[in-house]
Amino acid sequence: MKRRRFFSLTLFSFIFTTFLPVFHKVFAQETENNFYKLGSLTDLEENGFLLNENLEIGAVLVILKEDNSLIAIEPTCTHMGCLVEWNKQENLFICPCHNSKFQEDGKVVEGLAISDLPIYQVKIENNTVFVANQ
Ligand code: FES
Repeated sequence: MKRRRFFSLTLFSFIFTTFLPVFHKVFAQETENNFYKLGSLTDLEENGFLLNENLEIGAVLVILKEDNSLIAIEPTCTHMGCLVEWNKQENLFICPCHNSKFQEDGKVVEGLAISDLPIYQVKIENNTVFVANQ
């Protein structure tokens, strides 16, 4: 019994250490240049936005504007933490909780928010949307 357990642990250790770099790459969703995979371009085009609240770099919202430009922003409102939403008509991010408004570069223009929303770099490669810290 102890011998079986020893071999099981040895085999598990071997597999874990051998594939650890692969697991890290998959779960961290990180590319070589510190860009993180956010989602597919197809989903972005269909929905007009991509949102991931669990990336290692924080929450990220990417929107596709009508002129096909992209904006990547940290969508957590700096007032009390609600998620802001993109408003096409006003060309602003608007917080649904207390109506703070932010320009597409993250700057506060109105409301109770105390500071700007951070923005991210965004790029598309192979039909995939990637983001990185500025
Ligand atoms: S939480 Fe956004 S304005 Fe209050």
